[in-house]
Amino acid sequence: MGGYIPEEILESIRLRADIVQVISGYVNLQKRGRNYVGTCPFHQETDPSFTVTPEKQIFYCFGCHNGGNVFKFIMLQHQVSFPEAVKILGEKVGVAVPEGYSPKVKERLRRGEKVWRINALARDYFHAVLMEHPAAAAAREYLAGRGLTPEIIKRFGLGFAPGDWDALIKFMQNKGVGVRDLVEVGLAVQGERKAYDRFRSRLMFPIADIQGKVVGFGGRVLGDGTPKYLNTPETEFFSKGKVLYGLDRARQHIREAGYAIITEGYMDAITAHQFGITNTVASLGTSLTREHGRLLVNYAREIIIAYDADAAGVAATIRGLDILQELGCRIRVLSLPEGKDPDEFLRKRGVEAWRRQVETAVSLVEFKLQVALEKYKNVSTSKEAVLEEVLPSLAAMNGELEKNEAIKLVASRLYTSYHAVAEQLRRFSNNQPKIGINSDKIAKNKHNIIRKNRINFGERAEYGLLKLMLEDTSVIDSVTGALPGNFFRDSFCNKVYEIMLNIYKHPSYASSVLFDYLEEEHQQKLGMLLMEPVPGEDVEGMMAGYINAIKRRQLLEYRDKLIAALAEAEKSGNREEMVRILHEIKIAEKP
Ligand code: GTP
Ligand code: MN
Repeated sequence: MGGYIPEEILESIRLRADIVQVISGYVNLQKRGRNYVGTCPFHQETDPSFTVTPEKQIFYCFGCHNGGNVFKFIMLQHQVSFPEAVKILGEKVGVAVPEGYSPKVKERLRRGEKVWRINALARDYFHAVLMEHPAAAAAREYLAGRGLTPEIIKRFGLGFAPGDWDALIKFMQNKGVGVRDLVEVGLAVQGERKAYDRFRSRLMFPIADIQGKVVGFGGRVLGDGTPKYLNTPETEFFSKGKVLYGLDRARQHIREAGYAIITEGYMDAITAHQFGITNTVASLGTSLTREHGRLLVNYAREIIIAYDADAAGVAATIRGLDILQELGCRIRVLSLPEGKDPDEFLRKRGVEAWRRQVETAVSLVEFKLQVALEKYKNVSTSKEAVLEEVLPSLAAMNGELEKNEAIKLVASRLYTSYHAVAEQLRRFSNNQPKIGINSDKIAKNKHNIIRKNRINFGERAEYGLLKLMLEDTSVIDSVTGALPGNFFRDSFCNKVYEIMLNIYKHPSYASSVLFDYLEEEHQQKLGMLLMEPVPGEDVEGMMAGYINAIKRRQLLEYRDKLIAALAEAEKSGNREEMVRILHEIKIAEKP
């Protein structure tokens, strides 16, 4: 199925189609803790069993067991095939599917491609000017003065827009691109009588989407003029709230590192990359949005925020973080000494100092606690007020261990007892819209696969291991290292693992993608398994246990085979063969 429509297009649609938003168009969804629930559109019910998880971008019904990703929902809802569902969703989010698209979409596709093509031309032009043109000598000096190497300038495609009113317009006309198109893309401005270049005498930072297509530019003055940065205007193709600067280069590194670092500015991200900290992106100076979060959670759930420590920055930081937490991210906040941004810090103190700073980055709760304590100054008279500010974050934490640690921390900072904080938290949670219903349903689900008694221990290990791999791709690397080949016996696990091995290294991989490759029956099982909680906190320990169980089973089976062969050899009186097999049995039985 995946091959039918280019993966790039599926990815574009997947990224733009938030499953909660799409399903909200058909089902009345209510927020319940980290999920959304509603009455299932696929079977009759009054008690809502239909669950959507923004974190995993899947839906699953505990009543009828239908489950899948956003494409699967459209297939069921409209009773259509996979390619048709892709087309319907593509229309909704404005991504064209080649073949049979409507005139409206065709038009948008044409415009989208035009935007990318023109922006790419402009990037190459600005870059060539920066590298070679006499008029860019000051710009080259400026960048060298800020410590950027030619290599990093090239890697990020930095450029320079000349000071003339129409340098880009003229260049583009020679390439057959008209002024009207330039205005539409945001590279030129239509004046009273004539159009002129939007960016003049500015350093140019091309801004790419996750697939590396240039969607806009940031232009910085050389020195101290205003505005310091000029951006491509917001259009359907460029929106600061939907793009993270550098993500196209960082995404693979974010996955490998297991966490992402978000900075505020272009220069911060570029410097980080120059210093080898390639899991860094920048948010273009805006508050973090839900879309930003969704771009990141595919690659890692741990996010380190490295913003300037000024008051405005702090306020903006806190606002965005709740949204990220809602998507299931663990947030840590890195504080830099007053007045320093990551770029300055790295250049003055170096990578080692930076790494120490990363290690001491504090959790969101601790960060909020610090900010609140600073705000209220006197702890003894404002315990309630401080507590008030951190309770939402405490309530939003999912891991029990983590939550306990956080409660302890809050208690000690407020010079109060663990129980006092826990009690306040309980009260706070009880006043919140009922969180219980659905997590109960998930926990008590009698179809719970991993713990279901009917399956034997070996099978349980298989499902357990698969679950861990679905949650975190770094587990896949460990498993392939420990157990060669496709060792799964259960046909469902075997199939999912086979597909997973083929696609998990792809930058756009997420467990929800697996649905696109599975048969109906296996999709239901996958939905179930994805909705189940991980059966414990100690991932490393569980993984080792499961791997051992599977190895032991393999060994026992091998021994049984040898014993059968021994009987065979005995029957045919082949003494030599018997001795050989006995020897092998001895080896196999060694602990
Ligand atoms: P340098 O001052 O060169 O180190 O740049 P910076 O990237 O560190 O900038 P700063 O920390 O001042 O701002 C962070 C980000 O906010 C920038 O990278 C821009 O994306 C955005 N920003 C800052 N100033 C402006 C502005 O005047 N206009 C617009 N549109 N964006 C701005
Ligand atoms: Mn800076």
